Amino acid sequence: MAYIGAMEIDPLRLTPADRYKLLVGLIVPRPIAFVSTRSRAGATNLAPFSFFCGVASEPMSLIFCPANKGDGSHKDTLANILATSTRGDGVGGQFVVNIVPHALGAPMAACAEDLPHGESEFVMAGLTEAPSKRVTPPRVAECPACFECEATHVIQLAPGAAGGGNIVVGRVVWTHASDDVMDARYHADPARLDALGRMAGLTYCTTRERMDIPWGRRALG
Ligand SMILES: Cc1cc2nc3c(=O)[nH]c(=O)nc-3n(C[C@H](O)[C@H](O)[C@H](O)COP(=O)(O)O)c2cc1C
Repeated sequence: MAYIGAMEIDPLRLTPADRYKLLVGLIVPRPIAFVSTRSRAGATNLAPFSFFCGVASEPMSLIFCPANKGDGSHKDTLANILATSTRGDGVGGQFVVNIVPHALGAPMAACAEDLPHGESEFVMAGLTEAPSKRVTPPRVAECPACFECEATHVIQLAPGAAGGGNIVVGRVVWTHASDDVMDARYHADPARLDALGRMAGLTYCTTRERMDIPWGRRALG
């Protein structure tokens, strides 16, 4: 199928809000990293991020992207990662990426509320902290899979700018996966995982409609 007509868009002519619309409307669906962190004072924090992706298996790594707030300051998640980094540049900062099943959509979205620093989203959303194995921040007991991570890079794309982007690269130092969703050969059952995806705005999708397509020319039938 060929598409007729096209908008040609120079991002430099757009407002940041419109650039955001292009990204979140066209790059869909996005997985959701439900990220738990702990401040130096010991307060736990939990927030969802859909600019998120697994990026490497050697070393086992993932990225997520907490943008700056409107005043250019860091969101609590990034502030905690930077604060718990021994070098101060984020490297070694600890966090846990919890995978969000469909059933946890409402508490996950609740945790996007900007709570006062030090107030826990776990308590507000009725979620349970479970101890992590290798890092200090707790994981979410209700999530079927969790990746404990240490940051290897924090790349600040526009330091101090409103909405400025940041990329956190995390090395996975431990993985939890419930027996309910994964077998002994590390095959996850997508139906049991029932992961949630994010579209634009307030819209989400499930992973309930699936298909197999072979690689290479065999895909053409
Ligand atoms: C499903 C979902 C995905 C989100 N993805 C992102 C994201 O990728 N980057 C970001 O900066 N904020 C994202 N947000 C907004 C943050 O969750 C929100 O700003 C939150 O308050 C940040 O929490 P913190 O200040 O405790 O770190 C998302 C919100 C929702 C509901």
